[in-house]
Amino acid sequence: MTIKEGLSWARAQLQEACERPAFEAELLLAYHLGKDRMYLLTHDLDSFADVDAFKKLIQRRAADEPYEYIVGSASFYDIHLGVEEGVLIPRPETEILIDLVAEIIEKENITRIAEIGVGSGAISIVLARKFPLLHIIATDICDTPLKVAGKNIETFGLSQQIELRKSNLIDEVPEELELVVSNPPYIAEDFLLESNVIDYEPKEALFGGRVGDELLKQIIVDVKERGIRYLACEMGYDQKEPLQEFVNQIGVEYIRFYKDMAQFDRGFIIKF
Ligand SMILES: C[S@@+](CC[C@H](N)C(=O)[O-])C[C@H]1O[C@@H](n2cnc3c(N)ncnc32)[C@H](O)[C@@H]1O
Repeated sequence: MTIKEGLSWARAQLQEACERPAFEAELLLAYHLGKDRMYLLTHDLDSFADVDAFKKLIQRRAADEPYEYIVGSASFYDIHLGVEEGVLIPRPETEILIDLVAEIIEKENITRIAEIGVGSGAISIVLARKFPLLHIIATDICDTPLKVAGKNIETFGLSQQIELRKSNLIDEVPEELELVVSNPPYIAEDFLLESNVIDYEPKEALFGGRVGDELLKQIIVDVKERGIRYLACEMGYDQKEPLQEFVNQIGVEYIRFYKDMAQFDRGFIIKF
């Protein structure tokens, strides 16, 4: 099979599963060959090896498996992170949370923070790279994220700055902290998700409880009770009102909500 024929076959297979079947066919063939996409254009009449293995990659994608799990890597902020099933694929909207936290760290000269729900390590790794004096204790309740984050932290040489800890929220983090950041699970239990998410991504990373904001509220309470000054979290597009009411009841210095690129409410910063 030539590269041109392979791409044409793959495009047809990916028609239903992908918004951009031609693009993903090229990405997966380039990945299979260990080359870049330009190579495909300049060698389109060449035959390529191990066609069966390539077809298996395409069949996985046609069955809605996310591209990132197939290639074992996700692009996030200015880096690529190793990912595998059992770990949430980092989302572009989480980059906004990082920029807002970075502003606070810079303004307040913060050096000790915790992240709840480290996943692939996306938030902690980007923050540690931005602030070489920052020390982060990053928790997760599941083993696979702790393993994958550990590998990513090592890849970026950040083991001195980021300490991983298996913990429910910050229960196992007694150290003094100035800020907590989290992109916790915040989706309601009965929310209908697309097949590429619900069939492949870990439930522990998605669902925050029956209503969805239960874990967020617990994080707010825990951080306030511990006397930590700042909390920055991502949240669901429909959670601004209930969270505003909740913090009105418990009392905070301020809560500032922020929106994502699509102008949906997407998170908040609390100063206690
Ligand atoms: C939405 S993912 C976020 C992953 C990563 N921080 C990111 O932004 O890509 C939420 C993470 O929180 C973890 N998690 C869920 N419940 C938790 C809990 N009670 N305590 C600590 N981590 C928890 C999940 O295992 C998952 O890795």
